[in-house]
Amino acid sequence: MPPVRIRERGRAKKGTMKRLLKQLFKLYPWHLVLVLVCLVFNVFGNISSSIFVSLTTNALVASGEMTYAGTPVNPFVDTYDVVSTFGFTMHTNITSLLIILGCIYFVGIFASWGWNRTMAIVTQSFMNDFRKRMFDHMQDLPIKYFDTHAHGSIMSLYTNDIDTIRQFISQALPSLIQTGLVSIFVFFIMLSTSVWMTLVIVVGFFIMMGVVKGVGGKSSKYFIKQQAALGKVEGDIEESIQGLKVIKVFTHEEKSCEEFDKLNDELRHYATNANIHGNIMMPVMGNIGNFLYILCGIMGALIFAFGWKNLSLSGYAPITNLDQFAGMIALFLMMSRMFANNVNQFSQQLIFIVMGMAGASRCLDLMDEKPETDDGYVYLCNVKYNEDGTFEETEEHTRDYAWKHQHKNGELEYKPLKGDIVLDQVDFSYDGNRLVLEDVSIYAHPGQKIAFVGATGAGKTTITNLINRFYDIADGKIRYDGININKIKKADLRKSLGIVLQDVNLFTGTVMDNIRYGRLDATDEECIKAAKIANAHDFITRLPEGYNTMLSGDGANLSQGQRQLLSIARAAVADAPVMILDEATSSIDTRTEKLVQQGTDQLMEGRTVFVIAHRLSTVQNSNAIMVLDHGHIIERGTHDDLIAQKGVYYNLYTGAFELE
Ligand SMILES: Nc1ncnc2c1ncn2[C@@H]1O[C@H](COP(=O)(O)OP(=O)(O)OP(=O)(O)O)[C@@H](O)[C@H]1O
Ligand SMILES: [Mg+2]
Repeated sequence: MPPVRIRERGRAKKGTMKRLLKQLFKLYPWHLVLVLVCLVFNVFGNISSSIFVSLTTNALVASGEMTYAGTPVNPFVDTYDVVSTFGFTMHTNITSLLIILGCIYFVGIFASWGWNRTMAIVTQSFMNDFRKRMFDHMQDLPIKYFDTHAHGSIMSLYTNDIDTIRQFISQALPSLIQTGLVSIFVFFIMLSTSVWMTLVIVVGFFIMMGVVKGVGGKSSKYFIKQQAALGKVEGDIEESIQGLKVIKVFTHEEKSCEEFDKLNDELRHYATNANIHGNIMMPVMGNIGNFLYILCGIMGALIFAFGWKNLSLSGYAPITNLDQFAGMIALFLMMSRMFANNVNQFSQQLIFIVMGMAGASRCLDLMDEKPETDDGYVYLCNVKYNEDGTFEETEEHTRDYAWKHQHKNGELEYKPLKGDIVLDQVDFSYDGNRLVLEDVSIYAHPGQKIAFVGATGAGKTTITNLINRFYDIADGKIRYDGININKIKKADLRKSLGIVLQDVNLFTGTVMDNIRYGRLDATDEECIKAAKIANAHDFITRLPEGYNTMLSGDGANLSQGQRQLLSIARAAVADAPVMILDEATSSIDTRTEKLVQQGTDQLMEGRTVFVIAHRLSTVQNSNAIMVLDHGHIIERGTHDDLIAQKGVYYNLYTGAFELE
């Protein structure tokens, strides 16, 4: 099945913003209330400072005409009546007004610092929590999810998409709230001052919104395409690094560069367009703002020149004095500037809202994926045998295990783990259509070594994937010591299996860390013992820093065979009662393989082992050999039985033919 990309990088699903905000409010309600309060103060500060500037203007204009008992009044010291544009009168002087103005600015700065700081904390904490939840959820997803989704796309959720959410929360969201608040405040203040001039601003607002929709919409479209192109470029780089050797071997450097150039050009095309449209927005909006400013000025001049009526909500009121009028013009000019600046700022954030929602939508898609179901109620536990043959549960690592049934009535029932595994008429399909295994029955008794042989793609690995429940079977039964494996907790089932997977994966860390991965509480001595069983001890001691040598890049500094030996050591340290070795020795020379085989045979004495091997010499001493062909078991028996049968195995063994 070809990998599918995570949801096409298009627009967000409906309701994404609501979900995101709900999560945000649920996690940080008090922080957000604080942000909101600070924003209200900030906007209030901005607006009231404009009002006080207008009052100060009025005061200054009025001061020129004022005399008291023949001597001019000192407007900085003496108090007098200052009429505001809104009709209220303040008995004050210029000094007091300036002090109030200073205080308002201070509150504004403090509020601004407050919400920025709180928002930075909220954003980073939310992102931290979001990444954690996403990663935790990803760990619980069935293997099928990873089979059907390109790994590069999953990775970019944690980088690109998360970053768009960060931008949305830290910048766009506060800007959205601020613009809303400013618009409401400004609108009512303007309306209570002059309906005509308000009308000018409202018309300007709709023009601005039209531009935001037109230009902003276009630029958003290109920004989303830019994100998609960026994802493709990242995917290509990742693939090129992974396949570096293949590219060199086939001398495809030029072709690889060509492909990269194509993707890179595509990215440039979308990014250029996105930025061209995005960059137009700022000057266009700025100029509309300037235009509004001029319009307000002209309107004011007209009102003054023609003695127009100052139309307010309370009715007609002729302009009676210049001081009130000048203040009104000053206020209006400031309001229109503030209004335009805000809408402009918001238009810059629009893109982050669109992108943030698209990114959040994809991340939430991953979170909505159904996790692996685990209805198991049978647990694995270590037990200690008493002298009289009875046993009891223990915390320490013994080599004896039992299944612990947790019955509904709270009763506990223990059943010793023996390692008896039965597959009973199992059918399985990866995609729900084509059967990969059909009517497969296998009986592995405690202590037996069962081998699977067969051509590539016959279904050997698939059988082991079913025993450890990477996938669930379509039909039939798998029983472990008589218990249906669906009833066993998945983690406990897997803990009871020491698995060497066909693909070796090593993690960044020392050699010792990588061996200890098999059982985290294993001591250094136990790890070294396991390395000896896997015959890895010799090569490890020859490494520059022995067991402390750092491995990086999936163990790129080791040979293929050495990597396999480490993965065997990792399974050996787990010391599980059942072992599954999938092509564990395919890259190891025959002499080392013999030694490994002796080691594991010794380790697994009395325990059940499943081995998959292409080299038939490895499986000769098995208790039963299953020959698989196209998902069917076509022959089974011991090596001698199968040779005597003179069937497929015999022919394989004698080299008469190869399985197709
Ligand atoms: N994750 C998967 N999704 C879909 N089909 C798969 C998947 N893994 C394997 N298959 C298919 O299932 C069949 C059996 O694959 P399997 O890996 O079990 O083969 P195998 O016997 O282990 O082969 P090999 O010897 O090469 O390891 C193959 O036809 C393969 O195409
Ligand atoms: Mg395989």
